[in-house]
Amino acid sequence: MDHFALVNGELHCEAVPLSRIAAEVGTPVYVYSANTLRRQAQRFRDGLKPAGRVHLAYAIKANPNIAVLNVLAREGYGADVVSGGEMARALAAGMPAHDIVFSGVGKTRAELTKGIEAGIGQFNIELEEEGVVLAQLAAARGTKARAVLRVNPDVDAGTHAKISTGKRENKFGVPIDEAAGIFARLSQLDGLELRGVAIHIGSQLLDISPLEAAYTRVGALVAELRAAGHTITHVDLGGGLGVNYKTGDVPPDPADFGAMVARVTRDWDVTLMFEPGRVIAGNAGVLVTEVIWVKPGVTNPYVIVDAAMNDLARPALYDAWHDFQAVRPSGERMVASIAGPVCETGDTFARDREIDAVKSGDLAIFRTAGAYGATMASTYNSRPLVPEVLVDGDRYAVVADRIAAETILAAERVPDWL
Ligand code: LLP
Repeated sequence: MDHFALVNGELHCEAVPLSRIAAEVGTPVYVYSANTLRRQAQRFRDGLKPAGRVHLAYAIKANPNIAVLNVLAREGYGADVVSGGEMARALAAGMPAHDIVFSGVGKTRAELTKGIEAGIGQFNIELEEEGVVLAQLAAARGTKARAVLRVNPDVDAGTHAKISTGKRENKFGVPIDEAAGIFARLSQLDGLELRGVAIHIGSQLLDISPLEAAYTRVGALVAELRAAGHTITHVDLGGGLGVNYKTGDVPPDPADFGAMVARVTRDWDVTLMFEPGRVIAGNAGVLVTEVIWVKPGVTNPYVIVDAAMNDLARPALYDAWHDFQAVRPSGERMVASIAGPVCETGDTFARDREIDAVKSGDLAIFRTAGAYGATMASTYNSRPLVPEVLVDGDRYAVVADRIAAETILAAERVPDWL
């Protein structure tokens, strides 16, 4: 499924040995495979072929590195952005403004204005007041903002509570039973071209039935809106497809997803929009780390690695599992917990797990770190920001520098009146 594999006993990314990147760039370092990104982008697109007119907006929050965006722009992907910063990245990567969707529950007036001025393709409105403000800002500039109304379908995505977004009590979208009224009022406004609806119920879905339930509700809403005389040309079905983090996970096949979409949306006659993030980038990246110590523990030893929760936050935040693998496996196995150097017990990647046997100085990887990895990194404990490398065949390049702790320190100052 990806391009990280053992060649002559050593893990490679495509044709490049990971030890070479570690020697030249240092660790920890994120390594991305351009050909995995392309493959996933193509699989997702191909899966949706039966669904008719489709617009693909890669959710750049998953991995916003500008080189990654460049690869995906060449695959014909636009972007789903949730901040002015993400919008600037998508534009800088050469994604045309009209292919960009601006989502997000807290878009500021300044961000809405920037989006209007850039000619963003679609704003996903999260509440009635946002729609009113967006219309005013657009009308004041003599234009109309193309927009859809995000609805909350009240469906349980069956995923981790922190990444579930489609339940009534979540902060996202307008309640689906109030959507027709809000749509009718917003559709009167001069500065808006309100053309449809959007949903996104959550992330890392391993079962597509909650998506089917949500899409079915949206289909009923589209029929209701049309019956009320509205023109509906676009429906944004969001993202959410899961990936395999753990050997044995069975993520949805994009072809099965596409078949379900085609079946549920058969009579809609709209352009369907999608915002995939993880399914495109997740398996396309690993975090390469070096073992600092193997420290005796009460039951099993601790493998202390030089990557930490500030570099890969998912295990600490969501108890997420990332497979751990030695770069040069000896064939022996051990049971250990894996932790980083940060001064918190939460800085633990795995507890009492059977892994490749490793010792101090060995290189290893955390898999499936291409999505929600580097982008969620911080400098906690005054650690540097982790660098990123893109591999394409036998070539590789550093696509984000390691930002040294000294550089971050240089941006701080002590006021002279202290
Ligand atoms: N569209 C919207 C409106 C979203 O909120 C998201 C993700 C996506 C699309 C992309 O979803 P995907 O296809 O990647 O599932 N940091 C968490 C994931 C947060 C997802 C937030 N929204 C994690 O590491 O699991």
